[in-house]
Amino acid sequence: MSDSSKPTPKLRSRAWFDNPDNIDMTSLYLERYLNFGLSLEELRSGKPIIGIAQTGSDLSPCNRHHLVLAERMREGIREMGGIALEFPVHPIQETGKRPTAGLDRNLAYLGLVEAMYGYPLDGVILTSGCDKTTPALLMAAATVNIPAIALSVGPMLNGWHKGERTGSGTIVWHGRQLLAAGKIDDEGFIKLVASSAPSTGFCNTMGTASTMNALAEALGMMLPGSAAIPAPYRDRQEAAYRTGKRIVEMVHEDLKPSEIMTLDAFHNAIVANSAIGGSTNAPIHLAAIARHMGVELPLKDWETVGHKVPLLVNMQPAGEYLGEDYYRAGGLPAVISQLIDQGLIKEGAMTVNGKTMGENCKGVEIEDEKVIRPFHQPLKDEAGFLVLTGNLFDEAVMKTSVISEEFRMRYLSNPDDPEAFEGPAVVFDGPEDYHHRIDDPSVGITADTLLFMRGAGPIGYPGAAEVVNMRPPAYLITEGVSALPCIGDGRQSGTSGSPSILNASPEAAAMGGLALLETGDRVRMDLKAGVVNVLISDEELEARRAKLVAEGGFKYPASQTPWQEIQRSVVGQMNTGAILEGAEKYQRIAQT
Ligand code: FES
Ligand code: MG
Repeated sequence: MSDSSKPTPKLRSRAWFDNPDNIDMTSLYLERYLNFGLSLEELRSGKPIIGIAQTGSDLSPCNRHHLVLAERMREGIREMGGIALEFPVHPIQETGKRPTAGLDRNLAYLGLVEAMYGYPLDGVILTSGCDKTTPALLMAAATVNIPAIALSVGPMLNGWHKGERTGSGTIVWHGRQLLAAGKIDDEGFIKLVASSAPSTGFCNTMGTASTMNALAEALGMMLPGSAAIPAPYRDRQEAAYRTGKRIVEMVHEDLKPSEIMTLDAFHNAIVANSAIGGSTNAPIHLAAIARHMGVELPLKDWETVGHKVPLLVNMQPAGEYLGEDYYRAGGLPAVISQLIDQGLIKEGAMTVNGKTMGENCKGVEIEDEKVIRPFHQPLKDEAGFLVLTGNLFDEAVMKTSVISEEFRMRYLSNPDDPEAFEGPAVVFDGPEDYHHRIDDPSVGITADTLLFMRGAGPIGYPGAAEVVNMRPPAYLITEGVSALPCIGDGRQSGTSGSPSILNASPEAAAMGGLALLETGDRVRMDLKAGVVNVLISDEELEARRAKLVAEGGFKYPASQTPWQEIQRSVVGQMNTGAILEGAEKYQRIAQT
């Protein structure tokens, strides 16, 4: 443990509060920080100043419990001789933000970079939680590169309805099908969904929130074992306190994100994502964090590093259980321990507690093998993502762990060609078009149709909408067809169990191949070869492209806010993280 009474010479906050060459600036900086009760002695003592990047608010209920946890963070910081300065982060709430929370990740990132860089902060606690909050925080910590530690707010308690676990999001997809089939009414639907949210915290399924917090831990940016502690548990308060203590030590040790978020750490996160059944949003966010960190992480790594890894965590949507069960079964350290035994983890990767991933997780036992399976009794083999290509997109992602037996039998059971499927396309231009037409029998959707969603990428639906997982028409659901193959340039909720091909890049709005597709075209998806192709000639495709260009390109709705317009003009595609392209060159800026 480091000696906290010894002032560390490198504290960047000294440049604000102890600047003999420019004493009048020092006095200016000092006077306003005295306003909320800090004393001159404290500010000039050389104590590390720790920012608490507060993502909780009434607009961000998933993270709201951080407002309570901040008290324990402050106590930990003070106990180790630090000074805590809490500041607000632009709110991001996954399900409440229009048009989509995806639009706000890069905006929160920008704000965080300015706050972390421009104020007298020596270290920062990143209060992670709801889907986009975690990557926004880690992206900014990568760019600024001051000592940083993430604290998960933790999942909600398990939801229950009539003795069954009801999980966030997953119950919505299920409830929509029951509603469409006439098995429940509006009130029953609302009650069912409300049952899944019994307490403070983030989604209790292995959706994007649980995924990104697990991956923050797998990256080494969170205290081991802390990502999955349910929000209301006593242990969550303790984790806040220990995180507060630890960030002060990290400042003294000068342990920065660049020493933690290395290529080894990203590969550990990819392996972990397969084993936990993590969200298809993870490749986008990890690519973004990696690019801001200056680490090369091509999308193909998700397949080469992650595809062969089995699914060990039995949690909805791929499995049965929820956040409380997962935590009690041992959480991420128990999963990593299984993967270490197989040589799949880079054990030497450094983590925020100053120890390596191997030191933290090796030998951690599974506490409940129904929830976390031993490596050789997985829920599914080869549970990672496939990275597909073809003439409709350069790269797209498919989560194979959620392919149901029914789906496999219906679409992938041809003995001569077990991984391929061919059928006619029905194309929707954005989610509104889909909602408007999906149940219209004249659209002609049958059990052989492939559903396409376009205009839903980072430019087309600014921020990229979670809309690729499209339910079949009600008339097919009543006939027992619960899922059709879905392909699109949008995202998919991490809580959805649909085996869609998504994050297709480049998107239609950037004139990717999806812009040229027409309803009725035959499309062949071959998962074994990793290829999805529309079965028309290159000449025909080029003719369609020329015609579309002459008509002014692919149409998408006008921007509604200034930020939508700005983001659209500078955002990249999802296979490379959908970051603000000009931002990548600013790296490790606290050292400049
Ligand atoms: Fe915020 Fe799921 S909607 S965590
Ligand atoms: Mg989501």
